[in-house]
Amino acid sequence: MAFICPEEIEQYAEEHSSSLHPLLEELIEFTYKNTDLPQMLTGRVEGNFLKMLVEISGAKRVLEIGTFTGFSALMMAQGLPEEGELITIEINPEYADMAKSFIERAPWGNKIKLLVGDAKNLLEEFEEESFDVIFIDADKSAYPFYYEKCVKLVKKGGIIAIDNALWEGKVLEPPDNRSKAIAQMNEMIKEDPRVDKVLLTVRDGIFLVRRKM
Ligand SMILES: C[S@@+](CC[C@H](N)C(=O)[O-])C[C@H]1O[C@@H](n2cnc3c(N)ncnc32)[C@H](O)[C@@H]1O
Repeated sequence: MAFICPEEIEQYAEEHSSSLHPLLEELIEFTYKNTDLPQMLTGRVEGNFLKMLVEISGAKRVLEIGTFTGFSALMMAQGLPEEGELITIEINPEYADMAKSFIERAPWGNKIKLLVGDAKNLLEEFEEESFDVIFIDADKSAYPFYYEKCVKLVKKGGIIAIDNALWEGKVLEPPDNRSKAIAQMNEMIKEDPRVDKVLLTVRDGIFLVRRKM
């Protein structure tokens, strides 16, 4: 994955961000050794960003679409209060098993509920306005659908963070269907009067969207 920042600046940012719990360092190492696409993991900078977002927003209920091996779920759950809950959805049972093995070992893992299945179906199970923070990080072709659904699932004043919103810059002139879907979602957000928004040039682009009160 190409980041927006030059690699040495990304490295510098990592080195100047909070260090990770040893279990999360182990998870990163495990993911690089045992999966084909370890670069899907959000990593130290974005992980710390998401954790802080959950903390400073005072979130109690978080939804994540796209668990992979559990890195971002475990980071965000660290920012939740003891009674907080994070629901994370993963379609691939093998990735879900890997995530589960780390969630079970984390002292704060009891806050996380992992659902295995297609998020496009599972999202139907939730009531409107039931989450304080939602992190979208799954199949890019469904981004417009996820956005529209999540604007309804997030509480008024709540936040949606969407990963890969710049997609290595391909959103400028989308060459394929996935890039087109992300660019389409970005236009939907830009024109959406229900939300305040800022597209951050962090890592591969994080679209931060806040539902108006
Ligand atoms: C970029 S990775 C998530 C990375 C994770 N957030 C992290 O920081 O480690 C995207 C994940 O979404 C999952 N996924 C793809 N399509 C999905 C769907 N329709 N429903 C649920 N999960 C899906 C993939 O299997 C993959 O594990």
